Amino acid sequence: VTARLDADAPLVALDSPVHVGHALLDELPRLVPALATAHRVVVITDTTVDALHGARVRDALGDGRTLVLTLPPGEQAKTRDTWGGLTDAMLVAGIGRDAIVLALGGGVIGDLAGFVAATYLRGIPVVQCPTTLLAMVDAAIGGKTAVDTPMGKNLVGAFHAPLAVVADLDTLATLPARERAQGLAEALKHGVIADRAYWDAVVRALPWPADADALHALVHGSAAIKCGVVARDPHEHGERAILNFGHTIAHAIERATDYAIAHGEAVAIGMIVEATIAVRTGVGTAEVLQALRDALPRAALPVSLPRALDIDLVAAATAGDKKSRAGTVRFALPATIGRMACTAEGEWVHPVEPAIVRAALHDCVAHA
Ligand SMILES: NC(=O)c1ccc[n+]([C@@H]2O[C@H](COP(=O)([O-])OP(=O)(O)OC[C@H]3O[C@@H](n4cnc5c(N)ncnc54)[C@H](O)[C@@H]3O)[C@@H](O)[C@H]2O)c1
Ligand SMILES: [Zn+2]
Repeated sequence: VTARLDADAPLVALDSPVHVGHALLDELPRLVPALATAHRVVVITDTTVDALHGARVRDALGDGRTLVLTLPPGEQAKTRDTWGGLTDAMLVAGIGRDAIVLALGGGVIGDLAGFVAATYLRGIPVVQCPTTLLAMVDAAIGGKTAVDTPMGKNLVGAFHAPLAVVADLDTLATLPARERAQGLAEALKHGVIADRAYWDAVVRALPWPADADALHALVHGSAAIKCGVVARDPHEHGERAILNFGHTIAHAIERATDYAIAHGEAVAIGMIVEATIAVRTGVGTAEVLQALRDALPRAALPVSLPRALDIDLVAAATAGDKKSRAGTVRFALPATIGRMACTAEGEWVHPVEPAIVRAALHDCVAHA
């Protein structure tokens, strides 16, 4: 990857600085001055991340003011029960409004700690320190926080813009290959929806950036794209829908398989299906589809629906999508690599007939 010209430009999302770089955890009080002056800092993390990277944060912040609350790793922790447990622990510890929550971990910790901060004493600041590629390029940026419910994922939450996002690239050194792939799916998505040069750079870097500068360019470029979209549409009234490319089908696959397929893998398949819909509806070029078919396997990501998957179930789950209106599902569709298609009315989502969705799903089933 050749570093982009603007690779060192400061990033901002919802007025919060987004720092991307190496060895940043050691610099936390300098990067986020409020951390140096806060009465207490509540670090919320999971046991895996704590063991690998927690000490650096404790050392940087100083032990006296820091309360560390750890959770078991994984999506199962992202519940209202856990939210209640964390909140109670903070109340018992006497944490006041002059405290800051620091989320250290992947998107699960970011969403959960963000929601704790959004609601604790009606809201205290949160600093997002994402440690997965997915969280750095996606979950930590944009201020969305949530917990899951038995009725579905992310159904209870709040918008709570972080005070700052600090993405220390050094933490990615310990990230397992499968988790790296989850984030690469979102980085490739960002290339498709917004920037062909960025797409080319990510593809060249696959399966993983060869050096520190290339990793910086990948994360910074993706964070910049998400920051740009969020800045233009902070509350999801319009353009922010393009971030959902691949996700309408991905969420349907996740529901139909009871989340047995990892999110990034579902997004990879979802991008293939939705690029197929773009071709079938005449909205987009076949180039996107071919480019995705070439790139995704190089990131160890799938390009087809497993044969064992019930297409009817996926189609039904798609029809139940949040973005559907009156039975017709609406999709964010790529025109070409780097540009999403608008409707004649200037909308970023396109109503698609169920028959076309079904045909596209059938097009994308793995061959024997
Ligand atoms: N708020 C948003 O806008 C937004 C956007 C996208 C996704 N999300 C949410 O993000 C979550 C998924 O995030 P995720 O993929 O980061 O999953 P995750 O937080 O579960 O992390 C994945 C795994 O990697 C481990 N891990 C984290 N950092 C590590 C490191 N540096 N080294 C080694 N292991 C590490 C974790 O312990 C965990 O087991 C979902 O709950 C999703 O809903 C939110
Ligand atoms: Zn996603």
